Amino acid sequence: MKAKLTLHGEFAIGETDKRLYGSFIEHLGRAVYNGIYEPNHPLADELGFRKDVIDLVRELRVPIVRYPGGNFVSGYNWEDGVGPAGQRPVRMDLAWMTRESNRIGVNEFAEWARRTGTDVMMAVNLGTRGPDEARNFTEYCNFPGGTRWSDLRRSHGVERPHNFKLWCLGNEMDGPWQIGHKTADEYGRIAAEAAKVMRWTDPSIELVVCGSSNARMPSFGKWEETVLDHTYELADYVSLHIYFGNPENDTPNFLGRSLEMESFIKTVTGICDLVKAKKQSKKTINLSFDEWNVWFHSQDQDAKIEKWIEAPPRLEDIYTMEDALVAGCMLITLLKNADRVKIACLAQLVNVIAPIMTEVGGTAWRQTIFYPFKDASTWGRGRVLRCPVRCERYDSREYAGIPYLETVAVHHEEEGRLTIFAVNRSLEEAIELEAGIFGFEGYRLIGHTALYNEDLKAINAAGGEKVKPAAQETAPFEGEALSLRLPPASWNVIRLEERRD
Ligand code: AHR
Repeated sequence: MKAKLTLHGEFAIGETDKRLYGSFIEHLGRAVYNGIYEPNHPLADELGFRKDVIDLVRELRVPIVRYPGGNFVSGYNWEDGVGPAGQRPVRMDLAWMTRESNRIGVNEFAEWARRTGTDVMMAVNLGTRGPDEARNFTEYCNFPGGTRWSDLRRSHGVERPHNFKLWCLGNEMDGPWQIGHKTADEYGRIAAEAAKVMRWTDPSIELVVCGSSNARMPSFGKWEETVLDHTYELADYVSLHIYFGNPENDTPNFLGRSLEMESFIKTVTGICDLVKAKKQSKKTINLSFDEWNVWFHSQDQDAKIEKWIEAPPRLEDIYTMEDALVAGCMLITLLKNADRVKIACLAQLVNVIAPIMTEVGGTAWRQTIFYPFKDASTWGRGRVLRCPVRCERYDSREYAGIPYLETVAVHHEEEGRLTIFAVNRSLEEAIELEAGIFGFEGYRLIGHTALYNEDLKAINAAGGEKVKPAAQETAPFEGEALSLRLPPASWNVIRLEERRD
């Protein structure tokens, strides 16, 4: 099948925010305990953090990690996780029906983030708690000293403030499954009051209000409008969450799901701008897509988990080749909307619906979705370029007009780097791509890698990786025309660099 792509150095969508490549660690399953933290592991450091896991997170170049939840945060008392480890209470976590030892809390997590080279996106509990705890927690984390909560932090051996700059005002408060679920008005009011006192405590912070848990919620749209009516001048971002699955085993339909993500982003952007107009505000609210991924493989297994045990293996999806393609399409969608999506978090990072898996006492390994994320995070920073495409389209069970080729390009001017990301959604045919590349005189083709496997259900495992990128043969890049062959059902990275000799 043939396809045509045109890109020009002057036709840009916007600059990427580095936080587009964020991720998420929740107190859930084996994300924290027996995930990032396993004190008896041979590769644990003196604080109990696994160094092999830290190395894999570094390989992904994750600039920010959301913590401590997720649903968990809506019943969390942050005070339980600070102070002498031996005196911390063991709690029933009602979000996931597990036992929470509180061995890891905010100070330990901040130290893990420091060792990993990432920032923290902190969340406050607006489920069972409210503005008072939110301001105390902000003071504990971000105020230098000489006050009740900042001195408590210092007494816990953390002299300098953490200075977390980005905070979530609760999590998925529209969902009936959430501890302390609220109506849009109830949540909007409490979020506004929490935002106010948190900002008074530290005026340098940025705040994310909860949007809908997904675009199929009955209150979607109205929820965002009402919440923003209450919080517009106090918040900086509204959150979006989406998870896709393929329980029907309908791969063409599954590969089209990113169209739904695109429409979700466009609708939420419109609602933000509607409220801006209603308020005649000069401020623009941007989007924090702080949970996105494929999630469905583990659901039957999770239904069998015994309650009230510590760190059970929950949400341990083992990802396939086709899941990596969907993750790739989702990354391209985020990039195409980089003018409004400033933050995004692959949910999650270790063991729980994660690119990185670990064995207790054993190895740590890369799932299939690790690779598109790593590629985008490594090469997808800079100015995102519009990529008009001519290609065939198909209809699936739920979507019409799905393009076989999903693509975007990113130009990093200072480093003289142009990268094209492309997914071929055709399961049978390679795409013969003709790319017209304008405004990049002096650039040469560095290489083309593709992630594909004839078996769309192929997985990676602790013992070996069946799904990993492979270098492709390339034709010479002459003038402004680039010819490429994208294998069937593949994720592709095409890299060009400016000659600087
Ligand atoms: O990421 C897993 C869960 O999905 C999170 O706790 C919640 O916010 C969402 O529903």
